[in-house]
Amino acid sequence: MTPDYDALVDTERGLISREIFVNERVFEDELERLFTRAWLFVGHTSLIPKPNDYFVSRMGTESVILCRDREQKVHVFLNTCRHRGMKVCRYDQGNTTLFTCPYHAWSYATDGKLVGVPLYEQIYAGIMDKASAPLIEVAQMVDYKGTIWATWDPQAPPFEAYMGGALDYLDLVLDSRDGRPGGSEVLHGIQKWTIPSNWKFSAENFSGDRYHNVSHRSADDVGISPSARSGVKGRRDQYTPGSKNVLVTFPQGHGTHSVLLPENNWYIEGFHDSPAVEAYYRHCFDERQRRLGEKARVVGFNGTLFPNASYLAHQPRMICVWHPVGPMTTEVWRFYLVDHDAPEEVKAFLRHYYMRYAGPAGMTEQDDMENWNYATAASRGTIARRYPYIYQQGLGRSTMDDPLPGLATAQVSEQNPRGFYHRWADYLSGRD
Ligand code: FES
Ligand SMILES: [Fe+2]
Repeated sequence: MTPDYDALVDTERGLISREIFVNERVFEDELERLFTRAWLFVGHTSLIPKPNDYFVSRMGTESVILCRDREQKVHVFLNTCRHRGMKVCRYDQGNTTLFTCPYHAWSYATDGKLVGVPLYEQIYAGIMDKASAPLIEVAQMVDYKGTIWATWDPQAPPFEAYMGGALDYLDLVLDSRDGRPGGSEVLHGIQKWTIPSNWKFSAENFSGDRYHNVSHRSADDVGISPSARSGVKGRRDQYTPGSKNVLVTFPQGHGTHSVLLPENNWYIEGFHDSPAVEAYYRHCFDERQRRLGEKARVVGFNGTLFPNASYLAHQPRMICVWHPVGPMTTEVWRFYLVDHDAPEEVKAFLRHYYMRYAGPAGMTEQDDMENWNYATAASRGTIARRYPYIYQQGLGRSTMDDPLPGLATAQVSEQNPRGFYHRWADYLSGRD
């Protein structure tokens, strides 16, 4: 029987059933009704700069190939042979003119066409036309400032409409540090690891859990920010005093958390150990102010773009994808971003910061994973499952257009997770 998703997710009262984090049937419905219809993050064009470059990614539980064909056109294909389904590409990344299936050697060009079938003339000619069996391609795909997004649903709204107002916040991730539009690249390579947790715990945390700082107290005490030196605490560098943390909730299910600098703001020096990095960031700060004016007051922090692509926009700058594997298993993928034209010294500096902050061995990420992993396991108990989770923080206290456009609040609030699960229930109930 189909679960009653509106009963499991009551965002008006702020009560959400534990069932949605552990139930197999709910998970199957997510794959069928959400991951086949939503726009999903697939990768970045900097991973496939040359013709015939490819990068193997995922959409939901399925393997997909992001590739650039001979004519430079970018495609996203399901990584499965039309004959018996074997993966046609078993590498993570590379360059090839053909994806040759290891099972019976059907070969596909990088534009997806089936070009080679052993013994074709003898056993298939006149029966099966090669043109009828290309690699299966996504219904819609966009390249947004170098990031590739795709959906299996031909009826899905265009990417811009799907993102809505959250697109401005994605820009805070993707635009150059000096305010020029776009210009990011992925710092090789991608970190991938598996956690015994439901994917939604991570997605909702990144949408703006301003309440969980206590989890990171030890990382804060150690002081791991980019410019950290002994005696300086915190995980990130500081902003002008008087800055506000603002959460914005979008009807499409996205949630963002940003920093709004005061009108009179200034660059805070930090990189004492590296004059070159210091000079670079000071230049970027000034240049961004000059280009964007009043808009430069908004600095991205974190957010979740519904359903499973999250980001940290500023420090450390990255896109996080929570790939569903099972109700209690998630594969985490992390793409670290830098400005394509940043000096090598800055890239090297950031690489070290990214490593000590994030990923399975990063100081901060370890804290978060402990919480999600045990929350998932604890959600499963026969008795525990009878008690819904309480998502009532700041319920009904949001305002419109204050201090940022949209449903925004400068308070600690769970309005972003509520927005996320509201949208989730729309998809799971099969609403348009
Ligand atoms: S499964 Fe690919 S050629 Fe048979
Ligand atoms: Fe955290």
